[in-house]
Amino acid sequence: VKYWIILFVSLLSLLCLQKNSVLCIGEEQPKNCFTELQVLKGHFDIVRFLVQIDDFRCASAGDDGLVLVWNVETGERLQELRGHSQQITAITTFTCNNGLTSHTSLITASSDRSLSLWDPDTGNRVQTISDLQSSVKCLLVLERLCVWVSGGEELCVWNKDFQLQCHRQNHSDTGITALIELPKNCIAAAMDKEIVFEILRNCIGLYDFTSVSSSDGLFASGSHAGELILWDAIDWNILAYEHILWEESQACTQAEIRLAAPKPSEMSIQHLTTNGTHILAAVGSGLYVYSILTKTVVAYRKVAHDSNVLHTMLLSDSELMSCSEDGSVRMWEIQDLPLPAEPASPGLFGMWTFGRSNKQTGPPSKKVMDVPNIRTLELTGDLIGHSGAVQMFVSFRENGLVTCSTDHLLILWKNGERQSHLRSLALFQKLEENGGL
Ligand SMILES: *[C@@H]1O[C@H](CO)[C@@H](O)[C@H](O)[C@H]1NC(C)=O
Ligand SMILES: *[C@@H]1O[C@H](CO)[C@@H](O)[C@H](O)[C@H]1NC(C)=O
Repeated sequence: VKYWIILFVSLLSLLCLQKNSVLCIGEEQPKNCFTELQVLKGHFDIVRFLVQIDDFRCASAGDDGLVLVWNVETGERLQELRGHSQQITAITTFTCNNGLTSHTSLITASSDRSLSLWDPDTGNRVQTISDLQSSVKCLLVLERLCVWVSGGEELCVWNKDFQLQCHRQNHSDTGITALIELPKNCIAAAMDKEIVFEILRNCIGLYDFTSVSSSDGLFASGSHAGELILWDAIDWNILAYEHILWEESQACTQAEIRLAAPKPSEMSIQHLTTNGTHILAAVGSGLYVYSILTKTVVAYRKVAHDSNVLHTMLLSDSELMSCSEDGSVRMWEIQDLPLPAEPASPGLFGMWTFGRSNKQTGPPSKKVMDVPNIRTLELTGDLIGHSGAVQMFVSFRENGLVTCSTDHLLILWKNGERQSHLRSLALFQKLEENGGL
């Protein structure tokens, strides 16, 4: 028996009060359609990854080594993929178009130093490679070439039959942590202190980054030191450079007498996403929206969550979403400042960035507050349901949102109005079938 839990608005505000959060949206969340939730149980440890398989299925994986396939419409657990003896370190879908047929499989990597190919329809482990020299930390599928790449201490290129095509060894101690595809059969690999551009033939070494995000003709990288760099994806030149430095909070400085001006502090960029025109960066517990077209910051919020933001997404029409170690998922809307001439409160949301172009030497510093047309991020929804850090989420548009957490659970968030409409439709249909009414 499946239970749908209707999320009461009063419960929301109660939780909000208890947490004593900086941002409290209160009872009224008219723009938040996710008023119904279903808890999906099945994992025994932290759930770190979610991947969308098709319009109605997703797979979850984490530290228990299990991969579970879910029906997002019903919340039903469809398959349980068992085989890994240790935590899953990466998961991706793999779709290979052989002209006529197109079938989506799952590729997983684990700390048990193995890689597996799964059929999510049957739950079978189709291929497996064990006894790798080191565990794989990231996976990238190059659909066009029908190959996939694994990154860790070494970088390996595999074909659809799990045959090793080529490999490059020992880049650094920490290894490769992120991979993206670039034009002309190139990939960029993120490593501890460098960026490596691997062509499937030759390579060059460059910069420092932790996460990458690509759009046509260029890609972005973010580092633990708060640097956001926009790269040309073809000649690998730096197109724009932003050093995001948050000013220390005013609240702390008031308590003591400070002799020096508050020092701006570096914040790590944990996650980057793009929709082609904008980049959304998770910077510490804040959010930062950057326009690729104008190469300027569009909107930001220094304190978007109570602790680090772990995953973000740009939705349509100025809407975005973020989840955090604080256990919440928040929805935001980019809005024009009500009074653009009004100086914003310094300190609380104060932020400096240092722009640097290719040719300039001395970085001219500018305060973001001085940048015209800066807009604000307004909280439009606060989804509270998890009791641990929310690791990531996947959106199925009108079919809902799936979140996963360190609390071992997945939550399926639904549009309550749409669900009750669907339920009454189904009820009428049943009555008609039974000759009722
Ligand atoms: C890789 O690097 C580690 C440490 O830097 C070293 O101990 C190891 O021998 C290297 N392995 C190969 C195959 O070069
Ligand atoms: C990308 O997101 C921004 C901010 O939400 C929005 O203004 C823009 O229209 C989006 N671009 C596309 C191509 O959807």
